[in-house]
Amino acid sequence: MVKNLLRRLMIIYIIQEEGFSKVTVSIDLKINGRAYPVAVEPRKTLADTIREDCGLTGTNLGCEHGVCGACTVLMDDEPVRSCLMFAVQAADREIRTVESLAPSETELHPMQQAFIDEHALQCGFCTPGFLMLATSIYENRPGVSEEELRELLSSNLCRCTGYLNILKAVQSALGSSSTTQHA
Ligand code: FES
Ligand code: FES
Repeated sequence: MVKNLLRRLMIIYIIQEEGFSKVTVSIDLKINGRAYPVAVEPRKTLADTIREDCGLTGTNLGCEHGVCGACTVLMDDEPVRSCLMFAVQAADREIRTVESLAPSETELHPMQQAFIDEHALQCGFCTPGFLMLATSIYENRPGVSEEELRELLSSNLCRCTGYLNILKAVQSALGSSSTTQHA
């Protein structure tokens, strides 16, 4: 019995150390309109793949378990937390990261400009995630009410700004300015 147990433990050890950890899957990621053929372990997150395999380090990682929203990217125009997804789940989907926003090296996306104008960032760590979340609102829900906007933005965390200026920035980009002073 002890012998059998040891054998099973040895098999589990070999699978974990030398088996599954070396299995990779070849997938095509489409990020910011460009193809990224990558070979990834099935368990690798989309966030890590975007940063490490595609070299797009604008997407930040904070909590790595779906709470802070720092890793938010757009997938088929909807915001997703890239730390909660496996890269293989994103194969052949349209991914957009913060690097896609500025139309050129000398121009900013209206949402980026609004964040600057309204002082909506300090350390900037949360900013890529907020920008992608806000861009999805800008594109998909331009007539959103202030109450709905507060609810939508509450999905992401910022440790610096106190949120009011982020709210103002998004409202400014959306063309509304009804922000009250109780963020
Ligand atoms: S890093 Fe993904 S939600 Fe915090
Ligand atoms: S600007 Fe520092 S965490 Fe938001």
